[in-house]
Amino acid sequence: MEQLFVSSSTEETQEIAYRLASGLKKGTTLCLYGSLAAGKTTFTQGLASFFGISRLVSPTFIIMRQYPVTLHPVIKTLYHLDLYRLNSVEEIKAFDVEEIWNDPTNLLIIEWPEKFVDILPKNRIDIFLKATGDNQREIRILTH
Ligand SMILES: Nc1ncnc2c1ncn2[C@@H]1O[C@H](COP(=O)(O)OP(=O)(O)OP(=O)(O)O)[C@@H](O)[C@H]1O
Ligand SMILES: [Mg+2]
Repeated sequence: MEQLFVSSSTEETQEIAYRLASGLKKGTTLCLYGSLAAGKTTFTQGLASFFGISRLVSPTFIIMRQYPVTLHPVIKTLYHLDLYRLNSVEEIKAFDVEEIWNDPTNLLIIEWPEKFVDILPKNRIDIFLKATGDNQREIRILTH
């Protein structure tokens, strides 16, 4: 299934993400594609807000951050992974990503997945963000 949105503000992007989060029955892998400042972290903040997480900051330097989720029947942990600084599959695997994405109590959100698309789980949601103006973003959500 494919859905296409046009967002005109940071808040609108977060609302689109919030709605996507509200439809998740269990944890999955959400891949966020798009260039620098496309809105990947902004989108992740919208997802996180649905789970009661209000302070989500980019994990660029530490690669992965983990947030406990207390308000969802199935999802217990949100993981936010940024692959921007990683250069090999071994480096990613050191973060136990397979264990994380195989567990439906985990919601795993990945920025810069295009770097390692071959190893990502088939069962995932791909989200493509593209700047089409100063405050405008095209957002394409593809559920496999
Ligand atoms: N419609 C919009 N949707 C999302 N962000 C927007 C929008 N309009 C403007 N922005 C701004 O664009 C920037 C997006 O930054 P963000 O950190 O989310 O990007 P990113 O894709 O995570 O970048 P990086 O690759 O550096 O991690 C923010 O400053 C945000 O306020
Ligand atoms: Mg980011």
